[in-house]
Amino acid sequence: EMRTAREQQHHSYISNRRDDDTQTRYRSGGGGGGDGGGDGTTPLAGKTLAMIFTKRSTRTRVSAETGWAHYGGHPMFLGKDDIQIGGGEPLRDTAIVVSSMVDAILARVGEHEEIETLAKNSTVPVINALTARFHPLQALADIMTLYETVIPDALNYPASAKLPLPLLPPLKVAWVGDANNIIHSLLVSLPRIGPISLTVATPQGYNCDPEVVSDAVGEATGGDKRGEVKFTRDPAVAVRDADFIITDTWVSMGQEAEKAKRLRDFAGYQVTEKMASGAKPDWKFMHCLPRKAEEVDDEVFYNPNRSIVFQEAENRKYTVMAVYEMLMLWAKN
Ligand code: CP
Ligand code: NVA
Repeated sequence: EMRTAREQQHHSYISNRRDDDTQTRYRSGGGGGGDGGGDGTTPLAGKTLAMIFTKRSTRTRVSAETGWAHYGGHPMFLGKDDIQIGGGEPLRDTAIVVSSMVDAILARVGEHEEIETLAKNSTVPVINALTARFHPLQALADIMTLYETVIPDALNYPASAKLPLPLLPPLKVAWVGDANNIIHSLLVSLPRIGPISLTVATPQGYNCDPEVVSDAVGEATGGDKRGEVKFTRDPAVAVRDADFIITDTWVSMGQEAEKAKRLRDFAGYQVTEKMASGAKPDWKFMHCLPRKAEEVDDEVFYNPNRSIVFQEAENRKYTVMAVYEMLMLWAKN
């Protein structure tokens, strides 16, 4: 069964990482509590993760909570109405207090400055679980999904994988939709994984943050990289010869009041077979979810030969677990 096979494969990455002496980057630094280098399956035993969420979540919450628990740690979900943040206690005070009692914080907040305030005032690592500007955990799952689709053997560790992972081959990726946190995180991360041509189509009045764009262009074209980042108003231009078409909701959390205007402004941006007729014949569809039908129709979204959205969602768990390994187990001070 597909899911079981994928789970087994992931669990074998973890146990193989622990057993393979040559892969020292996957071992914890020098034992002590939370021993990721031993034979235990609970390297985060006794460690607590505070999950501070001021916005709702399905995937991020479930992946983060089950992933931490998988390693034997205690995840503690703190919605805004459960803790004093909801009554107006400042993020600064919350960070000082919570970080004095836990081993890591994972937070979903509004403005990006809010996560920076948490990070500045926390004595433990703070993981960004979505801000209005970035959603890095989603980008990691998207990268894993691209690898699984394009060079699946690269992740078959250690049977056929070579670390570090190879760059992806040249690919055309189209984004058609809003200029939001998801495309911002893709802009700053896709140029790092290969000569990817990323074309972003957004409507008039909806532009990616210029600072993010300039980082992305620098990353895509710096050194010996041969990626590119392009912008257009025309979805047909973006999807031409695309290997992957990616979108997201047109109305992000916090933008509910703009819904009617946004639905008007995004007319013509719905991903359908017809709008994608200029893409590669076997183009794949991705979406961070949750999905609304206005941005992608059912024919594309539920076509298993097109849409890899549920694999992408499941990969949220494996990739957040990798973040935990990196922060809590490899990078031991
Ligand atoms: N993609 C994503 O972050 O989904 P949730 O809002 O359900 O966590
Ligand atoms: N852009 C969306 C992503 C949800 C996972 C939002 O911020 O609401």
